[in-house]
Amino acid sequence: MKYVCEVSEIDVGEMKSFDIDGTRVLVLNADGEIKACDGICPHQEVLLEEGIFDGCLLTCHSHLWQWNVQTGEIEQEAEKDLKFFDVKVDDGKVFVIGL
Ligand code: FES
Repeated sequence: MKYVCEVSEIDVGEMKSFDIDGTRVLVLNADGEIKACDGICPHQEVLLEEGIFDGCLLTCHSHLWQWNVQTGEIEQEAEKDLKFFDVKVDDGKVFVIGL
């Protein structure tokens, strides 16, 4: 389990990526629920933090692959799953499990 950031760093509907021991991790605040996924698009190594997040759907700006952050499922266009990490929030701190 790795410490990533403070919950307060990610406003509702926002996202931010972090380099954790060489892995780019994208942390998203989905309606107050903290989620984390691979920060690199599984299509062509594009940074997903440069994409669009509406609080539920994450869209890579490059070719518009899209995933549902609430469910972790492919939403449309995407041909590959996006890797989501289990998240633990403790005392305002975000930890990612499985890195
Ligand atoms: S690089 Fe992300 S959808 Fe193509």
